[in-house]
Amino acid sequence: MKEQLLKEFAELFGDGGEILSYFSPGRVNLIGGHTDYTGGHVFPCALTIGTYAAVRERHDRKLRFYSKNVSNMGIVESDLDHLVFTPSSGFANYLCGVIWSFTKKGYTISHGMDLMVAGNVPSGAGLSSSASLEMVMCLILKEMYHFSDLSLSDLALIAQSAENSYCGIHCGIMDPFAIAMAKQDHAIFLDTSNLSYEYAPLHLANEKLIIAHSNKKRHISDSKYNERRRECDMALANLQKLTTISSLAELTMDAFEMVKSAIQNPICVKRARHAVSENQRTIQAVEALKAHNLVRFGQLMNESHLSLREDYEVTGPELDTLAEAAWEHPGVLGARMTGAGFGGCTVNLVKNTEVDSFIEQVGAKYKKAIGYAADFYVVTPGSGVCRC
Ligand code: GLA
Repeated sequence: MKEQLLKEFAELFGDGGEILSYFSPGRVNLIGGHTDYTGGHVFPCALTIGTYAAVRERHDRKLRFYSKNVSNMGIVESDLDHLVFTPSSGFANYLCGVIWSFTKKGYTISHGMDLMVAGNVPSGAGLSSSASLEMVMCLILKEMYHFSDLSLSDLALIAQSAENSYCGIHCGIMDPFAIAMAKQDHAIFLDTSNLSYEYAPLHLANEKLIIAHSNKKRHISDSKYNERRRECDMALANLQKLTTISSLAELTMDAFEMVKSAIQNPICVKRARHAVSENQRTIQAVEALKAHNLVRFGQLMNESHLSLREDYEVTGPELDTLAEAAWEHPGVLGARMTGAGFGGCTVNLVKNTEVDSFIEQVGAKYKKAIGYAADFYVVTPGSGVCRC
């Protein structure tokens, strides 16, 4: 992929000068869905698929971006003096957003660049193809301008602010953090209230992680995502009249039951119950993993999906069909939706010996119920964004 990209870069933008290449992975969240904006825990790992980038600094202030994934867009041009979110610029908004975010933080970006990207993470699938693009730009700028004061977690915060303030999606820190910090064969247990984290080894001896992609793009998810976030904020504001908490994740389930009557809107009670229970499940799941109790880990994944379906209402028929078909399969320890929801993927923990039969049976049930096929990927946890 890298050699091909460098060759095509030279063909499109001309050769000469120093052309550098980078890789930034996608990510899958094993448990801790929609908890990263209510101060909760998440447990993602990076994938070995992601975004490759080839880049060369320019002498002027022009930005020229080309994505092999949307070659019909041609070269998307912009410049450092006109960084404004433009819907028709598609993928380039994530790249421009990061540059904008660096400058907002006081870092001077003086020269433009030519950049070509090629990704093998399906877009709109809940596997963070956008954060993967943002993080590659973060690392490019850090290295191009020798911003040695910026750590990888600082870069993740810059990527998050690009997504929040430039692209208008009020997402949490999980995706860029996972992509920045990932370590091969490990998942990251991250406390999003203070960014403290711990690597947990994922040496699965007898099981495989399988991602099932519903092939339903999550078009409505951006507006619904921001709506869920507002509902959680409203629940928190109501609870703060009665308690001293600064985030929903500070509550245990028992404490939540005692104070939930302070939340005025019944929908917000459900949203908050998910935020509290999912955070507790995530903590318990990591304990189970450390105790090598994958059966318990799987049960918690299943409970997570149910909570995302019933209380958070972010699943939909495609993800529910995939999860339910997985639960019916004897080789499955756990299955849940991953990412923002409303389409995209499920993540499944499946016994080694049952992988083929899982793909066959879940695939057939899905196609029968939904009318088109799902795709399946057996994945291993990869490492974070890097020069390659
Ligand atoms: C999206 C967001 C993340 C997180 C997940 C849900 O991927 O970008 O911040 O909220 O949804 O867990």
